[in-house]
Amino acid sequence: MIKQITFSPTGGTKKVADALTSGINKEIEYIELCAPSSEIATTTLDKDDVAIIAAPVYGGRIPALAVERLKNTIKADGTKCAVVAVYGNRAYDDALLELYKTCSEIGFNVIAAVGAVAEHSIVRKYGANRPDADDINELMAFGERIKDAAATGKTLAESALNGKFPYKKTMAGPTPTASKKCTGCGLCAKQCPVGAIPLTDLRKVNKDICISCMRCISICPNEARSVGKIMHTLIALAIRNGCAERKKNELFI
Ligand SMILES: Cc1cc2nc3c(=O)[nH]c(=O)nc-3n(C[C@H](O)[C@H](O)[C@H](O)COP(=O)(O)O)c2cc1C
Repeated sequence: MIKQITFSPTGGTKKVADALTSGINKEIEYIELCAPSSEIATTTLDKDDVAIIAAPVYGGRIPALAVERLKNTIKADGTKCAVVAVYGNRAYDDALLELYKTCSEIGFNVIAAVGAVAEHSIVRKYGANRPDADDINELMAFGERIKDAAATGKTLAESALNGKFPYKKTMAGPTPTASKKCTGCGLCAKQCPVGAIPLTDLRKVNKDICISCMRCISICPNEARSVGKIMHTLIALAIRNGCAERKKNELFI
C-alpha cells in the first residue's frame, strides 16, 4: 500500500504529494501531520508499504514540528520511501537532506527524493498557481519512476542530494494576527497545529509557540488574518531576486 504522509499547513505540499502518488496508481492511505495535536496518532508502516513523505521548506529547512511529528508518530521497519521537499520557488537549501536524514533515522529505506515547487505560502505571487498543469504531469511521471525504483528497493545515496550538514540555522517567521474582519468563528484556533490562538480571544496569538505556518491565514473564511502589510512587503523584497526565475522540480533516484 502507498502511505502518503504530509505536513501541509496551506495545501501546497499536499497538492505535490497527490500528483506523485496518483502517478503510482495503487491504493493510498493519507496521513496528515499538520493537524491539532489531539488528532495526531501513531502510524506503523509495513515493510511492503511504500511511503511518500512530503514537507514544506521554511528558511531552507524542514519545519521543526514536522521533524518532531515524523520522529514521534511514524514507525517504519526498512519501509521504502520517497522524501519530498516542497518550496515556494526560492530554494530548498538543506531541507531535502534534512528530510532524507530524518526518515533514514526513523527506519525508512529512502529510495528517491524530490524537490518540488508550490505557491509561496507567505508571498503568494511567487510560485503563483504552482503546481500547475505542467508540474502535475511531471510529478505524475516522477511517481511512476518512484514505483519502478520501489520494485528494486535500491537505496538512494545521501551524497546524491544538495544541502549541507550542519544545516542552515533556523529563522523565526512572521506571526499572523487578526483584523477587524474577524467574526469570531474560531476556525483558526481549532485548526492551529500548535494551539497558538486561544479560542477565548482570537485576536491574541502566542508568538512563542506559533510556527509561522500560515494555516490560519489560508483557512480563514473572512480573510481576517495576515502577517501585516509592512511585514509582507519586507519579506517579498527580501526574497524577490531568489524567486525571480521559474524553478524546476527535481527527482533524485
Ligand atoms: C515560514 C516560511 C518559510 C518559508 N521559507 C521558504 C524557503 O526558504 N524557500 C522557499 O522556496 N519557500 C519557502 N517558503 C514557502 C513554502 O515552502 C511553500 O509555500 C510550501 O509550498 C508551503 O507548503 P504548504 O502549502 O503545504 O503549507 C516558506 C514559507 C513559510 C511559511
